[in-house]
Amino acid sequence: MASPSDTRPGTSGDEPLLVVDNVYKRFGEGADATIAVDHMSFGVKPGEFVSVIGPSGCGKSTLFNIIGGLLGEYEGEVRIGSERIMGPHPAVGMVFQEESTFPWRTVIDNVAFPLELRGAPKSERLDKAHHFIDLVGLANFEKRYPSQLSGGMRQRVSIARTLVSEPRILLMDEPFAALDEQTRLLLGDKILQIQQQLHQTTLLITHNLTEAVQLSDRIVVMTYRPGRLKRIVNIDLPRPRTSEVVGSDAFGHYVAEIWSDLREEASRGMLDAEASVARRGARG
Ligand SMILES: Nc1ncnc2c1ncn2[C@@H]1O[C@H](COP(=O)(O)OP(=O)(O)OP(=O)(O)O)[C@@H](O)[C@H]1O
Ligand SMILES: [Mg+2]
Repeated sequence: MASPSDTRPGTSGDEPLLVVDNVYKRFGEGADATIAVDHMSFGVKPGEFVSVIGPSGCGKSTLFNIIGGLLGEYEGEVRIGSERIMGPHPAVGMVFQEESTFPWRTVIDNVAFPLELRGAPKSERLDKAHHFIDLVGLANFEKRYPSQLSGGMRQRVSIARTLVSEPRILLMDEPFAALDEQTRLLLGDKILQIQQQLHQTTLLITHNLTEAVQLSDRIVVMTYRPGRLKRIVNIDLPRPRTSEVVGSDAFGHYVAEIWSDLREEASRGMLDAEASVARRGARG
């Protein structure tokens, strides 16, 4: 498990553990080409929580898929320490927006699944699965099936199932997008606790500003198409944090500051969407 005292190469000191270096991704050719990610560079240091925020369609999931090694054929590099990622990497644990629990498995069997794949002995599987189920606050639900849980609880199962492999980097794409605001805030508290206990290096992709400010040490703001880096904002709110921080003046200040950047980009996105509807209408 990565810890603050981890001395493996690329995990010590202030050197970033995850490096996104001049990444560029274009879909299609000629007039139909979309530049989804335009020469983005940033790093995530060991134990740091970084969010990438940007309006719908700006290229966030493209970046997520590139970092997760699910999308080849791009320019630039993604590195873990000094090692270039060429495909899915065991150091990167991914949590997706969509429902991804196995409905036919109980909570404990869902969470233990990656260890089963690895051929870990049963006692180790159960110990680790119990530990991470506890950590996400589902200790009393181990024998339940996903259909017997709420959406927020199912997403916690997915997070525990990713954490059980003890990835050095936790990479999440809009994991709370389908949840209501209250559940989202409380789940944010859970993520903060996990972050504190595991010192987990995390990159969260989101379009939710409150969530980004609540959870992050730094926020990477993206522009709307092409997806470029607009600004990186340091969030100097004290830790440990809870969702109570959402009511503070300092919190409001960060939200207002980042919103003025995002608003500009989201408006461009809306105008673009309206123009493309109009073009389709004109074509008949
Ligand atoms: N496989 C693909 N083929 C062609 N274009 C694609 C593909 N995947 C994404 N795009 C385009 O790239 C752009 C960025 O898409 P992406 O899904 O990365 O945005 P996003 O920021 O995740 O959006 P959202 O907030 O809605 O999830 C969009 O214009 C999208 O249509
Ligand atoms: Mg997306």
